[in-house]
Amino acid sequence: MGQTLSTLAYLVASVLFIMALRGLSNPETSRQGVLYGMIGMGIAILATLLRPGMGAGGIVLVLAGLAIGGTIGTVVAQRIQMTSLPQLVAAFHSLVGMAAVFVAAAAFYSPESFGIGFAGNIKAASLVEMSLGLAIGAITFSGSVIAFAKLDGRMSGSPIIFKGQHMLNAALGALLLVLVIAFVATGSPILFWLIALLSFALGFLLIVPIGGADMPVVVSMLNSYSGWAAAGIGFTIGNLLLIVTGALVGASGAILSYIMCKGMNRSIINVLLGGFGTTGGEAGPGAGNADRAPVKAGSPEDAAYIMKNAQKIIIVPGYGMAVAQAQQVVREMADLLKKEGAEISYAIHPVAGRMPGHMNVLLAEANVPYDEVHELEEINAEFADADVAYVIGANDVTNPAAKTDKTSAIYGMPILDVERAKTVFFVKRGMASGYAGVDNELFFRPNTMMLFGDAKKVTQQIVQSLQK
Ligand code: TAP
Repeated sequence: MGQTLSTLAYLVASVLFIMALRGLSNPETSRQGVLYGMIGMGIAILATLLRPGMGAGGIVLVLAGLAIGGTIGTVVAQRIQMTSLPQLVAAFHSLVGMAAVFVAAAAFYSPESFGIGFAGNIKAASLVEMSLGLAIGAITFSGSVIAFAKLDGRMSGSPIIFKGQHMLNAALGALLLVLVIAFVATGSPILFWLIALLSFALGFLLIVPIGGADMPVVVSMLNSYSGWAAAGIGFTIGNLLLIVTGALVGASGAILSYIMCKGMNRSIINVLLGGFGTTGGEAGPGAGNADRAPVKAGSPEDAAYIMKNAQKIIIVPGYGMAVAQAQQVVREMADLLKKEGAEISYAIHPVAGRMPGHMNVLLAEANVPYDEVHELEEINAEFADADVAYVIGANDVTNPAAKTDKTSAIYGMPILDVERAKTVFFVKRGMASGYAGVDNELFFRPNTMMLFGDAKKVTQQIVQSLQK
């Protein structure tokens, strides 16, 4: 394949990647978006294999890498639970970061192969790009490893904070800058590895103070970093597709982080400085709940009776629905209630569940009609007219402490005003708190009825009662 054809193929792949992102922005077009992405990646791989100068040895190496990586990826993707996707994404980002470090090292030790000069005499511009790719890649690697460990419960999700932390990070950041300048001036291998080591340490130090509840934003930020690292490396090795794809990942990760911060009413600086969850809000499952007045618990039959007589029902899904895989039975319940004449809608909080769009994906999987699914801003005013709010496995996203308790870890996060409905059902297994470890006083309100049990089982029992 000639150079022009290869550039053209890269351009087509880039356009397909942009179309993939566009498709993914809406549940109705998301499958098509994934397909565009797959075709784009197929073209990119083929064009890389057929690039001028790619010898038989190179082709064998790329194919071997594809076979090994592809097999591992397929096995992992088939085994992974939907609820564990955030940690999987974090783990994969760490690989992107490490890949950037390896490519930078390859370019540094074998500059002739990349057309950027000769060992000991690499172009200054390439040294700048290389050191940026190296530093961002190394920060992404160690930061993502910590994010993975926190999300997967392999280390505590609580922020790790010590005195002078921000000062230390700022000093190390300044030192990194000095090292990069010295590296560009001298091209010294020792400085290359010092930059890598310092960046690994910085990635670790930047992520440890960030609490579990902020991890999704961090994962998305690291996603963005990994994109910029790839783009930096793309400049070094003169690969147009890597530059475009890296920039797309970098920009979309940054935009997603912004959207999530908006969903929690936090600034990105506040998230990145860490420490969320240390002030106020009793941590731990059900902490503090035990001493309160007894709650009103009902049976699935009670819930079925009340909902049978309701006109307007809003279903609020949360993390527990995902754990119980109750989406299908929720839709069956909604179908039966619609037959009884009820109007059904679903209220989706931007950070319900454990990843962006988590609830939308589950409801789409259960073939819930898209026009019944509403975002927080669209539906919040409607709780006041609703007869029933059926809160299934959601907790933090309904917690009024976010509006009233300045000391709470979730203060400022917009919440779904479920308490304004005539009756609020909370389907959950016990009195445990949600992800942020904050008690929810709604459980004790007079218009609340707790439906204790697994989300799927309770909803199945409601369905059985409705069918009688
Ligand atoms: P949470 O506040 O985490 O509450 C989920 C509730 O589900 C828990 O209180 C739990 O209570 C219940 N539950 C767990 N398994 C269940 C099962 N099998 N059946 C029934 N109930 C079950 O969830 P949420 O309201 O969706 O809020 C999401 C939280 O996660 C927010 O704090 C958000 O900031 C954070 N977060 C969001 C994301 C994104 S981007 N969506 C990512 C990471 C973290 P029991 O144990 O008593 O059953």
